[in-house]
Amino acid sequence: MTKTALNPSSNKVPRQFDRQDWASGYCNVEKELNVVSIRPKKGKIPQELCGFFYRNGPGRVERDGNRVHHPFDGDGMITSIRFKNGEATLSNRFVRTKGWEEEEKAGKFLYRGVFGTQRPGGTIANAFDLRFKNIANTHVIKLGAQLLALWEAAGPHALDPITLETIGLTTLNGVLKPNEPFSAHPRFDPGHHGTPRMVTFGVKAGPKSIVRLMEFETEGEEAGKLIHNREDSFNGFSFLHDFAITPNWAVFLQNAISFNPLPFVLGQKGAAQCLKSKTNGKGKFLLIPRDSGAFAGEPPRSFDAPDGFVFHHLNAWEKDEKVIVESIHYPDFPEVGPQDDFLKMNFDLIPAGILSKCEINLVNQKVQTTRYSEQCCEFAMVNPHQEGLSARYSWMAVAGKPKGYAPLQAIKKLDLSNLEEFIWSAAPRGFVSEPLMVPKSNSKIEDEGWVLVLVWNGARCGTDLVILDAHDLKEVAVIELPISIPHGLHGSWVSEV
Ligand code: CO
Repeated sequence: MTKTALNPSSNKVPRQFDRQDWASGYCNVEKELNVVSIRPKKGKIPQELCGFFYRNGPGRVERDGNRVHHPFDGDGMITSIRFKNGEATLSNRFVRTKGWEEEEKAGKFLYRGVFGTQRPGGTIANAFDLRFKNIANTHVIKLGAQLLALWEAAGPHALDPITLETIGLTTLNGVLKPNEPFSAHPRFDPGHHGTPRMVTFGVKAGPKSIVRLMEFETEGEEAGKLIHNREDSFNGFSFLHDFAITPNWAVFLQNAISFNPLPFVLGQKGAAQCLKSKTNGKGKFLLIPRDSGAFAGEPPRSFDAPDGFVFHHLNAWEKDEKVIVESIHYPDFPEVGPQDDFLKMNFDLIPAGILSKCEINLVNQKVQTTRYSEQCCEFAMVNPHQEGLSARYSWMAVAGKPKGYAPLQAIKKLDLSNLEEFIWSAAPRGFVSEPLMVPKSNSKIEDEGWVLVLVWNGARCGTDLVILDAHDLKEVAVIELPISIPHGLHGSWVSEV
């Protein structure tokens, strides 16, 4: 394994960003393009990079002069960048959800948003309106022949993987009940039990929460077929956005969160704004045995989790009697109040996400936590071949300063074995989104490949696609895209077959 050296740029104090540059990244996407050729402004597209880079995120954040209360309420817009033989093309399309079609026609917001967007007309116009719009804006993945636009509170929308045309809400051939919650965070098992699989879940939250764990075939004739399914119920309200897998376990962190729906019912708050950290509450790790693993059929196990709040996990793996889970821990649940304007939020008051490792001892029940770094981070991943196994490297988006919360402006590669790091920075005028590590095909070297990242370029109010070398984060190519894509959420890579 190559020994990496500390990149000196990681110790530099970056110049302060401009809030207007950051805020300009929350804009409507005004056009949809179909297979438009895109060329690097700098560098070259690697010949071996062949496949589709899909991204999802809010593409419409304003209607009729009204802005969404929080960007997470924006309608899902899919971007697809196809790489082949050193060339690239871009397509983008909104997911034609029922709500998007209706609001397009009306020219105004007709639905309340989960994160506090209100219909025009104040509290009275919103009280007792408990309908919600499936905005399909959180993640996009391929399962079988279809692309799925995911939003965790309801069912997935199926899309054509080439044209991005919306086929419609899908039950995945009857696996799901109509509009059954289906997580926006599937995990791809690279072959822990022979063949690769997609493992995912759905949560029916309430005083008792039911977690449904599902495993799907991802290859061959049977791709998209459900092969394992189990349901477990847990006491208390569960807010589970993400999870992690190992060969034997699906690992969840049940945050100590309570839900009081009254302000939502009365039209004062969005449903997600009714979530609150429980005073003196204790989070729990929930380990659900995978049906293909050594503990199949056994009941779930529960362990104390550290204080704080977790949206996203990096990875998990097993070693002897331990399950090790790496996650981004926040000291508290970051709330967006009904009166707060997200564009004016005080960054100094926002909790910083810290990458940490929790070692859960299945025998003596003890949990030991270690922090990897003090730098605020989000959207971390390992080489997809190491998903659920011990991984040496991780790639993530980090704040443009070494401590405390700030907008994400750099990409970091962290060597988890010795904490050596490489940084590629888009500061002061660039803002990064989730980096995607694409391994070089047929390579056994864990950090051989590329990192793809969409960067909001505040200098030109547009989006750049940046391709980095996964080993040392050296810039391979920069492509100025012909559309401006707001700060987005999750995406995936699908190799060309
Ligand atoms: Co997420």
